Amino acid sequence: MDKFFIHGGAHLRGTVSISGSKNSSLPILAATLLTRERCVIHRVPDLSDIRYMLEILRYLGADVSFSAGTVTVEARKVGWEAPYDLVRRMRASVCVLGPILARCGRSKVSLPGGCVIGDRPIDLHLRGLEALGTRITLSKGYVVAETSALTGTRLSLRGPHGSTVLGTDNVMMAACLARGTTIIEDAALEPEVADLARFLRAMGARIHGEGTGCLEIEGVEELHGAEHTVISDRIEAGTFAVAAAIVRGEILLENAPSEHMGSIIEALRQAGASVEEEKNGLRVQAGDPLRPFRLRTGTYPGFPTDMQAQFCALAVTVPGRSEIADEVFPNRFMHISELKRMGAHIDLRGNVAVIDGIPRLSGAPVMASDLRASAALVLAGLQAENTTTVSRVYHIDRGYERIDAKLRAVGANIERRP
Ligand code: EPZ
Repeated sequence: MDKFFIHGGAHLRGTVSISGSKNSSLPILAATLLTRERCVIHRVPDLSDIRYMLEILRYLGADVSFSAGTVTVEARKVGWEAPYDLVRRMRASVCVLGPILARCGRSKVSLPGGCVIGDRPIDLHLRGLEALGTRITLSKGYVVAETSALTGTRLSLRGPHGSTVLGTDNVMMAACLARGTTIIEDAALEPEVADLARFLRAMGARIHGEGTGCLEIEGVEELHGAEHTVISDRIEAGTFAVAAAIVRGEILLENAPSEHMGSIIEALRQAGASVEEEKNGLRVQAGDPLRPFRLRTGTYPGFPTDMQAQFCALAVTVPGRSEIADEVFPNRFMHISELKRMGAHIDLRGNVAVIDGIPRLSGAPVMASDLRASAALVLAGLQAENTTTVSRVYHIDRGYERIDAKLRAVGANIERRP
């Protein structure tokens, strides 16, 4: 397993090119199962989560190729079972459930189980599919879904923590091939859901209302192949923006999706960083001094839970008291104990991290755990004195395309060693 060796203190300067969105690519790749015709998807990031989804599509019978950011999929026939040893390694693979069901009339997908950021239930997914006329049974860790005919209806996807991103994706994809019209109330507003809706429309689906919370889908007989370019990754962009702030540097985030980053930009400005929109990206410069801040995650357009760990890393380096609460994944604080090993002063009170920032962290051996927690450790290492070694960087490779190479290109002293 690879490790990162980071020698902190370098001021980052330069340009980072932002890749296509992981969380947009994954459901769009699943949606290619809805047609037997060829689909071509551009700007797909080369990540282990992506390669993993392609492995699942191949297992289900699709012809798949991936080169230079472009994925081609032709699912002339589709199997209907996604086995445990494929699904368990990536929770997002649950988004093949809707497309397989719509294509085959039945689907057997392993329950994803939990992960380090907390319980990952799919009750809202299943309730939505049941509303479309699906019989759902759970047996031996599998979800078995069967339907004689998916039928349009009105349903809500509201849950205890707001809506569900992948749940909205699953139900929207199934509804595309249902008989009649489906109204999804309390649909997720995330830009990645809107990107999927655009791809489905390019395939011939009749979808309106993405980004409004109420999706209207008029079912069609079948969908045809389509070509699509994935939106930029707002979380990768946000992560590099925090990198600029934490080491008091200046980075131009080329191709950053500024229009999807309102709450992230607001949080950076609250911390005293300057963020300027330019024609080909977002320029982020650390303020001097940075200020403590208070953040609370929420569903889009609220502050994203996927940026919570990164802002904890920033807060531990800003003198003064900051408070960061995660309302979406209340247990998503795996990074706290590792940041404390680097000298951070953090008091975790339920789902609120109370942080008293210090001028300089001290390098230490730390361990990656979940994708965004691991990114936070890399950011902390960039600021810490001496050397920080981050082990199990395969967690980071799941969601960031060559993060070490991109950081070195703007002056970071980071090395990947086996
Ligand atoms: C998506 O996960 C993202 N993953 C996550 O990013 C992101 O953190 C999350 O949305 C929230 O924005 C992908 O898009 C591949 P949810 P998803 O269903 O769809 C509860 C990353 O780091 N819930 O929107 O699985 C759930 O427990 C990943 O890139 C139910 O109660 O998240 C959570 O509290 C991590 N029942 C809240 O809703 C359900 O049936 C939001 O979950 C489904 C979810």
